[in-house]
Amino acid sequence: MVYLPREDSYMLKKWVEKLVKGDILDMGTGTGIQAFAAAPKAKKVIAVDKNPEAVEYCKNAFHIFKNLEFRVSDLFSNVPEKFDFIIFNPPYLPESKYDKEIDTTGGKEGWETIEKFLKESKKHLNKNGKILMVFSSFTNPKKVLEIAKKLKYKEKMLEKKHFNFEDIFVYEFSI
Ligand SMILES: C[S@@+](CC[C@H](N)C(=O)[O-])C[C@H]1O[C@@H](n2cnc3c(N)ncnc32)[C@H](O)[C@@H]1O
Repeated sequence: MVYLPREDSYMLKKWVEKLVKGDILDMGTGTGIQAFAAAPKAKKVIAVDKNPEAVEYCKNAFHIFKNLEFRVSDLFSNVPEKFDFIIFNPPYLPESKYDKEIDTTGGKEGWETIEKFLKESKKHLNKNGKILMVFSSFTNPKKVLEIAKKLKYKEKMLEKKHFNFEDIFVYEFSI
């Protein structure tokens, strides 16, 4: 199953369209919505997903775009390059007995995938490189910001929106 774009995807996409340039990584690309939004502004976009079905879907949908490349990768396992922007709409919900899907849940607490991602991202950002990332009030935002601070990222909240049961945040992190 490939994650179909939702509110979080559309919020992040708006900031991708506004901000990105240079070499881009779209982590957890799903249907490729962020990669597609970044392509007109980018020198090159590499888009990866742990789910081979998502990568196959994107390869078929976007084969005519010369500056878009899709790969299967568990976070950075298949990504040696460095980037000017790394985009991530991560799986950010806590696991529950009803939901253990890889496209939505980021570990028992919800923030574990984000923690691993922020740690590994440091080695993959160019000088002045930035991360654009979305998460929710269900992720424990205080914990996410604590992790970012510990890793010495500077953070900037770009947007916060309330939907039915949750707040969704878009943040920019830089080193
Ligand atoms: C919330 S969806 C976002 C999809 C799309 N980027 C969007 O904005 O709509 C999270 C995506 O991350 C992928 N994913 C989950 N864990 C991952 C990991 N460890 N490495 C790479 N991708 C992962 C999922 O398969 C899913 O496609």
